[in-house]
Amino acid sequence: MTNPESGPEMVAPTRAEAPDGAAAWVRPAPPMKAPAPRVTRRMPRWSEVRELVQFRRPTADPVRRRLEGALTIGDLRRLARRTTPRAVFDYVDGSADEGVTVARNRAAFRDVTFLPEALHAVKDPDLSTDLLGRRISMPFVFAPTGYTRMMHHHGEAGVARVAQRNGLPYALSTVGTSSIEEVHEAAPEGDNWFQLYLTNNEALNEELVDRALAAGVTTAVLTIDTAVAGRRLLDVRNGLTIPPSLTLQTFLDMSRFPYWWVNKLTTPPVEFASLRDFPGTSADVAALLFDPGLDYDDLAWLRRRWPHNLLVKGVLNPADAERVVAMGADGVVVSNHGGRQLDRTPATLHMLPAVRAAVGPESTVILDSGVTHGQDIVAAMALGADAVMAGRAYLYGIMAGGERGVERAVEILRAEYQRGLQLLGLDATSKIARHHVSIPGGEAWPPSDRRPEGTWPAGSWV
Ligand SMILES: Cc1cc2nc3c(=O)[nH]c(=O)nc-3n(C[C@H](O)[C@H](O)[C@H](O)COP(=O)(O)O)c2cc1C
Repeated sequence: MTNPESGPEMVAPTRAEAPDGAAAWVRPAPPMKAPAPRVTRRMPRWSEVRELVQFRRPTADPVRRRLEGALTIGDLRRLARRTTPRAVFDYVDGSADEGVTVARNRAAFRDVTFLPEALHAVKDPDLSTDLLGRRISMPFVFAPTGYTRMMHHHGEAGVARVAQRNGLPYALSTVGTSSIEEVHEAAPEGDNWFQLYLTNNEALNEELVDRALAAGVTTAVLTIDTAVAGRRLLDVRNGLTIPPSLTLQTFLDMSRFPYWWVNKLTTPPVEFASLRDFPGTSADVAALLFDPGLDYDDLAWLRRRWPHNLLVKGVLNPADAERVVAMGADGVVVSNHGGRQLDRTPATLHMLPAVRAAVGPESTVILDSGVTHGQDIVAAMALGADAVMAGRAYLYGIMAGGERGVERAVEILRAEYQRGLQLLGLDATSKIARHHVSIPGGEAWPPSDRRPEGTWPAGSWV
């Protein structure tokens, strides 16, 4: 008997009664061969083909060409890796110790579940929002990052110009390679913030505050998660340390990037520009900046001294958030320094709801660390942030194409953010609400036995 399941090409047989009453497999007659259907043909028309194949106009500008091909921040990262010496790329991309925190930050965003609302008109959504008394074009702030001119000679001034053009704040770092004054000159109308590392040199602290005031800085950001420098193993291995001790391999790799070298050697030296006049080597300055003596008295001093908005960056613990706000800070930046300082901390997104509950609705809460997609911004806003900060996202852009690369990073994030809002059924940033997202695991953090008693409203955090 033929096995009915053998041979995929066979027509399925049917079961029939044999004359002796036994069941037998009967193969049905093959279907009659139908004639091929008649197709009416005509001459091809070029105009129709042209509609299908829209050739892009070739561009002789290689930066433009590669940036146009970048559709995600991940694409910019890949370009940055190709265009920048490996040690410099590693300095940006790398993280502390085993990279547990940096992976958690990303995983937390990927684990977010969005729940859309049906049938709302979402044409031309309003992406803007209020942040610290100003209207900004979307809830995004350029995080402070040191050494930006090492990544690309356009440096901090280029980032500040992009921020100004896009109606977004830019936070210059104390260890920026352009000074407070240079950034002010590059973007005089910009919402220019200044990130402070307070040192045990009071005169220097005073001077930095005065210069920031004179340059019209609107917001000071005190970074508090750098009591000592995190251990970035890639930098140690590449010899990109302070003072530098480049390995031969690092040096040889750098020689593959003549464009980068020429720009380094023909533009002002890469140095801590706001600390230019400070006597001593870069190692002396670095030793001063990572101050293990920083404590709440320093925050109290800065609050007395700084008359404008003051944010504290590097807060993860809701109890700390509550305390700094009680001391007069206008808000906090929930940050683990992008996984570059203490490794094995929780993802900032998971701490965000508890921090928001601790400081209440009036204080500013900015979510930082791991933002690489516009939908990350949507998630952070739903979980209680007023805006996000990102560092690497725009640094990949600057490495890939200087100022235009930063612009591209903003374009990508803005388009993703807008599409995220629209597909959620929302026509404005202000419509994002807690019920639009859920975060598995996040709700359970921190475990109740690790929550200091009475430090933030019990039960009010999600
Ligand atoms: C290359 C680099 C340099 C940084 N320098 C500083 C700095 O000088 N001051 C500071 O407060 N944070 C600094 N940060 C941390 C950023 O402000 C921000 O917290 C971090 O980049 C957020 O994580 P993300 O890169 O995943 O967005 C730096 C980050 C990077 C990547």
